[in-house]
Amino acid sequence: MSPAPGREEILTALAAVDDPELRRSIVDLGMVGDVDIADDGRVAVAIKLTVEGCPLRAEIQKRVSTALIAVPGVTGAAVRLDTMTDAERAAMRGGLSAGLDVSSPFTDAGSATRVIAVASGKGGVGKSSVTANLALALADQGHSVGVMDADVYGYSIPRILGVERAAVTVEDLMIPIEAFGVRVFSIGFLTEEDSPVIWRGPMLHKALTSFVTEVFWDEPDYLLVDLPPGTGDVALSIAQLLPKAAMIVVTTPQLAAQRVARRAAAMADRVDLPVVGVIENMSWFIAPDTGARYEVFSGGGGQALAGELDVPLLAQVPLEPAVALGGDSGLPIVHGSPDSAAAKAMRTAADGLRTALAPGATT
Ligand SMILES: Nc1ncnc2c1ncn2[C@@H]1O[C@H](COP(=O)(O)OP(=O)(O)OP(=O)(O)O)[C@@H](O)[C@H]1O
Ligand SMILES: [Mg+2]
Repeated sequence: MSPAPGREEILTALAAVDDPELRRSIVDLGMVGDVDIADDGRVAVAIKLTVEGCPLRAEIQKRVSTALIAVPGVTGAAVRLDTMTDAERAAMRGGLSAGLDVSSPFTDAGSATRVIAVASGKGGVGKSSVTANLALALADQGHSVGVMDADVYGYSIPRILGVERAAVTVEDLMIPIEAFGVRVFSIGFLTEEDSPVIWRGPMLHKALTSFVTEVFWDEPDYLLVDLPPGTGDVALSIAQLLPKAAMIVVTTPQLAAQRVARRAAAMADRVDLPVVGVIENMSWFIAPDTGARYEVFSGGGGQALAGELDVPLLAQVPLEPAVALGGDSGLPIVHGSPDSAAAKAMRTAADGLRTALAPGATT
């Protein structure tokens, strides 16, 4: 039998454990408290959580005990969960933004984050479904991805990604909730008392400003922003807050929808956001019983709009009941039915988006 482990070995093992939402080592975050090692190899560790009712208590406890048990010589592991003191929380908060320009981490010239706003003229064309699935597809390709739900009045991202709970805050910093490897933030994560939905004009801008500056995004490779329908204030705020953002426009094939989508593109132009691609959604439907293909909304609107804007048509996504079911059940189609034509189209769109945003590509 191996001898009881030393303190150093235990701390090394704990250093490899990340907080699931902050995605930093629990040692670096100052979350490790007392460590007791008995002669017979039993180890007891105290872990200090940011808040008492931390929704991820069980997950953190599991990660810590798994890491402890794996250390040679450990014969048993006990993990006690404590709560940080105000001073400890303040220290952690300071550490999180060290080296980041908190005023807006994405406006910094050195920021490598590609920001993509997903827009449409019309409501209900599939922006939020596309945003969620693109995010998962990019994350599956190994990129770090954030999703900012900028649809303050009509948010749907929490349901689509199956994360309908309150977010944790560390002092004034709001921590995104992780889903499918993607960091997500939505007004839907703020408790009722935090989120008066009377936000209009300047208040709306204020809310979006805090989504940009007070959420711990931690510089992902891609930040996707789900916009509300239409051509209103939100796009203007996003353009001001995230001046390096690019936009993709989602449309359905009808020519009437394309005309409305054109207005979204005109708005992008006014606020100086380059449109980098068009995604056509609900392009066709395959009847499951006969296999017959129906162009439900005929028109070729996606191609027409892409041609008009001189940008690529990134993908045509078919109308599939599984897309809607996936959105309702919190399991987007890219993960729920990865072999479906719609999931493939979402991955094609992600590939096209990466190409369009690659350094050197003209936008
Ligand atoms: N390709 C598709 N096949 C089947 N259903 C779809 C498809 N795309 C979207 N849907 C469904 O259509 C509805 C509207 O989609 P979604 O919420 O993504 O649109 P949106 O443009 O974000 O809407 P809003 O303008 O209200 O924000 C949802 O019920 C969604 O599940
Ligand atoms: Mg939406």
